[in-house]
Amino acid sequence: MCGIVGYTGDKQAAPILLAGLEKLEYRGYDSAGLAVRKGKSLPEIVKAKGRLIALKEKTNAGKAIHGNCGIGHTRWATHGEPSELNAHPHATEDREVVGVHNGIIENYQELREKLIKKGYSFYSDTDTEVAVKLVHYYYENYGQNPIDSLARAMTRIRGTYALAFMFKEYPEEIYVARQDNPMILGQGVGETFVASDVPALLPYTRQVYYIGNQEMARLHKGEITFYNIDQEVIEKELIEIKWDAEAAEKGGYEHFMMKEIYEQPRAVRDTVNAVLKNGRIDLSDAGLDEKTIRSIGRIYIVACGSAYHAGVAMQYVMEELARIPVRVELASEFRYRNPILEENSFVIIISQSGETADSLAALRLSKEQKIPTLAIVNVVGSTIAREADHVFYTLAGPEIAVATTKAYSAQLIAGNLLSIQFAYAKGKLDEKRYKELIEALQKLPEQIQKVLDDEKERIQWFASKYANAKDVFFIGRGIDYAVGMEGSLKLKEISYIHSEAYAAGELKHGTISLIEDGILVVSVLTQKELYEKMISNMVEVKCRGAYLVAVTMAGNYKVEDTVNFALYIPETEECFTPSLAVIPLQLLGYYVSVSKGLDVDKPRNLAKSVTVE
Ligand code: M6R
Repeated sequence: MCGIVGYTGDKQAAPILLAGLEKLEYRGYDSAGLAVRKGKSLPEIVKAKGRLIALKEKTNAGKAIHGNCGIGHTRWATHGEPSELNAHPHATEDREVVGVHNGIIENYQELREKLIKKGYSFYSDTDTEVAVKLVHYYYENYGQNPIDSLARAMTRIRGTYALAFMFKEYPEEIYVARQDNPMILGQGVGETFVASDVPALLPYTRQVYYIGNQEMARLHKGEITFYNIDQEVIEKELIEIKWDAEAAEKGGYEHFMMKEIYEQPRAVRDTVNAVLKNGRIDLSDAGLDEKTIRSIGRIYIVACGSAYHAGVAMQYVMEELARIPVRVELASEFRYRNPILEENSFVIIISQSGETADSLAALRLSKEQKIPTLAIVNVVGSTIAREADHVFYTLAGPEIAVATTKAYSAQLIAGNLLSIQFAYAKGKLDEKRYKELIEALQKLPEQIQKVLDDEKERIQWFASKYANAKDVFFIGRGIDYAVGMEGSLKLKEISYIHSEAYAAGELKHGTISLIEDGILVVSVLTQKELYEKMISNMVEVKCRGAYLVAVTMAGNYKVEDTVNFALYIPETEECFTPSLAVIPLQLLGYYVSVSKGLDVDKPRNLAKSVTVE
């Protein structure tokens, strides 16, 4: 969701900014722009609607725009349509102040009206132009001091932002400020960088600083100075990024999504191995000891999108194994419903990016109510990871495709590991069962690989036949319903086919009226006890014309008497089947999208990291 890149050093800035923006394309955007200045000259601003290629063409891949200091932006429209006019950077008429912004300024109308009264006019519909002019107002009226003008603006702005600015009287310098929006600063030799995410910096440096909320920084060639909101200089720790640069490249795959689907055995193995010590689960890195676990009386799992679906699966596993009551909630609902959190509650926030606005708000709300929090997060150093009381890192590695696959799989595993350990600490598992469950988890990577090897080609063939489907239903019972939810989201977000996940037992209460000839119904049936009930529900839709696909356990071959197309997964513990059953569904979404010729990795209207409400 919007991307910022900035550079100051001795090299030509524009090609570096364009390359950085390319690495942030996965975040989702609809227009892009650059502002670059050479020495004391005024910045040159170039913008283009649509993909980055349009901006590259306009600037001859950056060669036509000269200067060694600049800021770049990819915009995901919030205020005002996607257009060249609304694209960032925004500037004052004299280009004295130029800025880019990620996030939302909630009181922008009020600020805009005040600025109009002070004689300002506006050319765009954006909240960002308001921020630029507000900073300019303080800059002009309070002694042309960038840090002072940013600090004053920050006290007036309500909302979330990552801001990067250039000021006419401060050549070769970039000023940044942050509130609840991701931003990292890169330290090079004789050069400095700012970006919304690590992949944009990796080709140049691995030495980064995380800037905190309500903090600012001044970037000069090779130097970064941090300030708090009181404009005092503050120290920050320099952190080395350990990622392999190739982790954020396609590595021979046509799309990031397919590469990430294939990285799932590794992501699951790494996430399990990170907490296994001498064959036992050790949650000490997350700061969770047996005493803390035993004190937990109720769990709230709060998340958005696929992370929410991982939470729904975790609910079944946790309740089944640990017998702790669990409630799973959408973060966007939880934060506004004034939840009653009992004293012995424990809140688990799940988030790949660790920056999702609603999940962050839910975390803060829980902390305000003095409820201990655990974050299951993939991005090290992200805001949710930094603010939660306990952190369980999934080791999926950088996930670039908008549609999550490996991070979701790693979240499922995190949920399983926590459930096993909570169950053990609560005395619900004996030693033998504890070990059996851990062994089953350790087998999952090779079993995921087997599903990929056995089913990929059949799914590819099937997807090409059904790519024109208009409506698809995913049905399941119990934990299979949780998998159906994720399968349905995977399909709809990248193939633009309407799809719904339904608890199979609920169909008869209304939705079955939508079933007619040729409607595709994907059934997930991995649970022995629910198998026959699922078959009955499947027969009910089949006799109304549905075309039936099943995902079930190897050995359930009799399912072929009922369905038109069956996909099989290897035997595992019943509560771990989501890790295997989701694989065919991810492949289905992927291949339908490819068959339709769509942009798999960057689906329309979507952003990788949803940092606004
Ligand atoms: O970064 P998060 O895990 O907090 O993101 C949550 C959702 O935005 C995310 O899972 C989204 O639903 C994905 N596009 C699904 O593939």
